[in-house]
Order: sequence, then C-alpha cells, then structure tokens
Amino acid sequence: MLQLPKFRVGDLAPTFPIIQGGMALRVSTSSLAAAVAEAGGIGVIGATGMGLEELRAEIREAKRLSKGIVGVNIMFAVREFADMVKTALEEKVDLIFTGAGFSRDIFKLGREAGVPIVSIVSSARLALVAEKYGASAVVVEGTEAGGHLGTDKPLFEILPAIREAIKIPLFAAGGIVNGEGISRALKMGAEGVQMATRFVLSKECNVSDMFKKMYLKAKPEDVTVIPSPVGMPGRALKNTFVARLLSGDAPPPESCDGCLKQCSGQYCIMNALENSRTGRVEEGVVFVGQNVHQIHDILSVKDIFNNLLYELKFYMGNNNKVV
Ligand SMILES: Cc1cc2nc3c(=O)[nH]c(=O)nc-3n(C[C@H](O)[C@H](O)[C@H](O)COP(=O)(O)O)c2cc1C
Repeated sequence: MLQLPKFRVGDLAPTFPIIQGGMALRVSTSSLAAAVAEAGGIGVIGATGMGLEELRAEIREAKRLSKGIVGVNIMFAVREFADMVKTALEEKVDLIFTGAGFSRDIFKLGREAGVPIVSIVSSARLALVAEKYGASAVVVEGTEAGGHLGTDKPLFEILPAIREAIKIPLFAAGGIVNGEGISRALKMGAEGVQMATRFVLSKECNVSDMFKKMYLKAKPEDVTVIPSPVGMPGRALKNTFVARLLSGDAPPPESCDGCLKQCSGQYCIMNALENSRTGRVEEGVVFVGQNVHQIHDILSVKDIFNNLLYELKFYMGNNNKVV
C-alpha cells in the first residue's frame, strides 16, 4: 500500500492528493468533477462562463453523482464573482478555488459558511497574503499550466520559495501529467498536485471530440502563449484563431454582456473558449497545459487515477516514503 503524506484542507481529507483543476466554459462540469471525487481526489467544477442557476444545477448534479469531495473554481476577474461564490456556498460545495485576481472578501464568506477557500498563486508574496487572510491551502501554478497564467516561471522554480514562505497545504500545478511529476512535487514539499490537461483527455470530460483530437495530436511546438482580454497571458494550442490573434487580426466581439470586471475588448475570450469546447476548434481558443504531448490516450478517470498511483509508487522508491 502506497503511504502518502496525510493532510487536511479545512476538515476535508481526500484519499489521494490529486485535485482536478477547474476549467472554465464548461470544460470541467459535474460529470468530470464527480468522477474525480469518486476516484478519491478533489473534483472541481469550472464556474466561469456559467449562469448562476446553471452553476447551482451542476453542483447538485455532482453531489448526486458522488459523495466524494467536490469544489468550484471561480475566477475573480468575472463580474459575477461574488454572486457565484454565494451560489456555491448556498449549495454547500466542499471548497472554493479562486484565481485570476485576489478577493479578500471571499475568506470571510468562506469562514462564515465553514467552506475552505483555496487561492491559486504564482508567487511567495501572494501566497503569504492568501495565508494571512485565511486561505486553507494554495495551488501554486507555474507557467506550464493551461489557461490564464500568473507567471512566466516554471513550477519547480517558484515552488521552493513558496513552500518556505507558508505553512498551509500547498498543491503544485502546471505541466504535471504523470506519477513522476506528482512524485517530484511531493518530494519538494507539496501536499499534493492539481492537474487539468490530463483530465481533459478523459471519457468523463464534456468537451467535443475535435477538442480532444487536437490535444492528442499536439506536439510541443503546437503550444503557445496568447494575450487574453482578461489582462493576463493564456496558454493555448496554435490554430487559425490564434494565428489571426497573434498577427493583430483577432475578430472583434460581435456582442458583449460585460462578463468581465475589466476587458481589453481585443476579442471575446468567452466566445472563443465556448467555440472550441463545442467543436469549432479553429474558430476558438483551446487552452492547454505545456506537457499535453506526453499524453497519448483518452481514459476513464478511474484508469487515470490507477495509472497515476501506480507510477507514483514506482517513483517514490521502494519504501514508499517521500525521500
Ligand atoms: C481548458 C482549460 C481551462 C482552464 N480554466 C481555468 C479556470 O477557469 N480557472 C482556473 O483557475 N484555472 C483554469 N485552468 C488551469 C487549470 O485549472 C490548472 O491549474 C492548470 O491547467 C494545470 O496545468 P496542467 O493543465 O498542465 O495540468 C484551465 C486549464 C485548462 C487546460
């Protein structure tokens, strides 16, 4: 039996130290989050891009499908952030992840509701601020991550200083796709990892087949960094849309409902993400982690967990201890 370090996030004690990263615009919905929760990890619904009632229904569905740990990821950059947090708390979600900006108010709301808040950070400074305000844990995200990026530095370069700076549990994210990556993070003092790209290539992830095919075909040189109207760079696959964007010819938004607190207006990121999820992959943005080329199969979440834990056991050495 593989002995893993024991830890808690608030009162929660997941069987395995693996969080499935929240993915906006319905990439991670109840089907994926519940499957990860059932497998013993932490499943996360990406709230960004959902309406409030849709989010409520997704949380209920995930809780119906699994008695495991289900969280919600909400980007601070969205205008409905506060209402989404309230909806998630009303639905008694197990924990809330927040990134792409920093909210102080969320910690008080989480405390009052008894729901742990986990901040996504990329620097020791922000990790310390999160700890001070009451975060139950942090996700440390390196530049290898998919989606919006808070740093241009690799995960294993920023991790040691953040580990040194804080005492709360730390989950490493960005470019981890197998047990070797998890083992490396644990050996550097992380309590666990957050992975997203690996879980897109699962049977339970709801994206279109075209989206998954692009992932499966991707070579290292197909992954790039693009500007996002959110005001942060984002890691995505090269395609027709990205070529237009990088040559200064992004299609301007056709309509706008003011979904972001601040938006550059260069193009509509929500439309672009929704296009790709629904199969119009050349007309949209396909967010992806840097190491997508290391994944070669679409598996059930259960099989992904089995493989990760088998590899982890191998890389942690004979005595199964973290060395
Ligand atoms: C398609 C996609 C969408 C994402 N959307 C979000 C999001 O809405 N909020 C967030 O905090 N992170 C988001 N991320 C980042 C992931 O949650 C995760 O931290 C990161 O991708 C980890 O790196 P990996 O994909 O290499 O495992 C997204 C990543 C991907 C691939």
